[in-house]
Amino acid sequence: MAKFRLPANSRIQSGRHHPAPVGAKNVKVFKVYRWSPDQGGNPRLDTYEIDRDSCGSMVLDALIKIKNELDSTLTFRRSCREGVCGSCAMNIAGRNTLACTKPIDGIEGEIRVYPLPSLPVIKDLVPDMTHFYAQYASIKPWLQAKTPTPPNRERLQSREDRAKLDGLYECILCACCTTGCPSWWWNSKRYLGPAVLLQAQRWLADSRDEATGERLDDLEDSFKLYRCHTIMNCVEVCPKGLNPAQAIARIKGRLLVRG
Ligand code: SF4
Ligand code: SF4
Ligand code: FES
Repeated sequence: MAKFRLPANSRIQSGRHHPAPVGAKNVKVFKVYRWSPDQGGNPRLDTYEIDRDSCGSMVLDALIKIKNELDSTLTFRRSCREGVCGSCAMNIAGRNTLACTKPIDGIEGEIRVYPLPSLPVIKDLVPDMTHFYAQYASIKPWLQAKTPTPPNRERLQSREDRAKLDGLYECILCACCTTGCPSWWWNSKRYLGPAVLLQAQRWLADSRDEATGERLDDLEDSFKLYRCHTIMNCVEVCPKGLNPAQAIARIKGRLLVRG
């Protein structure tokens, strides 16, 4: 049987050990991926023993505690701490999720924390999102309407039309779904992936948008759209409870009806 191994310079090595403070009675062990372009070398997994009695309840609380009290070099993104900005997305205990809404309780044993998979790493838990955002920009994620509105008027929507955006507008572009999608791993250059396709459907579903034809023309591509094979990892991991696979199926349905 073929045996696959990471290239030698990508293999993760065991790293530094930061023991719990003396007298700590409620200790949780975190193993955190570390890599810095300044130091080069192989990535490593550092061990931090955290006193749970002086730590908040979420994984992000533990990472902030590590940075503030144990190791100021640890680098990660965060902003809102409320599951709204999407910046703290990472792989925790084998699953893509948001560190700020992931409770420490409920994860058995040591907690392994890695950056989102399949993206280049800038430093530690910070992935390079450039390509993801470029794919997002490619679907023109803004309202396109040529019909002029009367002066000082908004573009109105019925309640029913507004409701068609539910399940779509809540996406925070965290990329948990896209970086958990095997099809995107293999074809990320050309396949748009679940997050961007859900956003594409968000604009197709908007009754005020007048570029539906052009949007569909652009998506009708064997790679951009049709690399989704309904594996459903995206639905499984979305921290906002959204269903990108269903959004993708709706785009395919629209194209089918259009013929
Ligand atoms: S359903 Fe489609 S988009 Fe979602 S993980 Fe599977 S292949 Fe990727
Ligand atoms: S669909 Fe869910 S997992 Fe994907 S980017 Fe949006 S919020 Fe994140
Ligand atoms: S810090 Fe904003 S989603 Fe986690």
